[in-house]
Amino acid sequence: MEIVKSVKEMKELILEQKALGKTIGFVPTMGYLHEGHISLVKQAVMSNDIVVMSIYVNPTQFGANEDLDKYPRDFEGDCKLAEKEGVDFVFFPANEEMYPNGYNTYINVEGITEVLCGAVRPGHFRGVCTVVAKLFNIVMPDVAYFGQKDAQQVIVIKRMVSDLNINVKVEVCPIVREADGLAMSSRNSYLKPDERSAAIVLYRALSGVKRLIETGESDAGRLKEHIYEIIRKEKLASIEYAEIRNAEDLSDTQNIKGNVLIALAVKIGKTRLIDNIIINNI
Ligand code: PAF
Repeated sequence: MEIVKSVKEMKELILEQKALGKTIGFVPTMGYLHEGHISLVKQAVMSNDIVVMSIYVNPTQFGANEDLDKYPRDFEGDCKLAEKEGVDFVFFPANEEMYPNGYNTYINVEGITEVLCGAVRPGHFRGVCTVVAKLFNIVMPDVAYFGQKDAQQVIVIKRMVSDLNINVKVEVCPIVREADGLAMSSRNSYLKPDERSAAIVLYRALSGVKRLIETGESDAGRLKEHIYEIIRKEKLASIEYAEIRNAEDLSDTQNIKGNVLIALAVKIGKTRLIDNIIINNI
């Protein structure tokens, strides 16, 4: 496995592989790898000749009061895991490499970035889209792998890829959960022991609402109320949003009909966690 820090070198290596007729699978990450990332790598290794993983904590997707400085990092540990799973190249650029002096171009996907996480994290998706578009231009992947846990991110990136005619297939892999249901996330490492126990309230709320839908409830208002009831019982939890939306375009929906995304953002102590499920109700 090769570690590459320069954009120029990464592009040259990719072009060499493409000239040999190799297909490129790409797993973009911010590092501090967990089993969720590993599931993306496994999928990429299975379906492509060459796998590139980027490890880059992208400053432009963090708000001024967010956790950029304390975002967990373990580059050595990440490289060991990546190598073991069969990653060929780790792209690990410095900020000056991605955003050199004079950098002035950003990508703004409108509408769908103004709800859910976008409403509480203004500028977040502008940063995500900008870095992902740059990474796509550098790595030139045939297929890029993203996790369903970041449901809105996946919808926004698919929109960007389609709107800008970017030549990449976006593959979405299922959420990987701990044994008790907590969705894997690098930010879970912030949780103190009592907060870690409290954090399963997100999965409990999503499972509860799923059961209610299975009994025939389809009114989005009543379903949201059920989520709030469950989460309010956990005293370390405070809800940022609990929303039910169309899973393709994030439009508001009053009813559980078709493909519906049920998405949560909840603070456990100071740690912000997100989770979701998709319900397919015909
Ligand atoms: O999902 C993430 O880890 C990040 O948002 C991504 C896609 C690597 C862009 O920085």
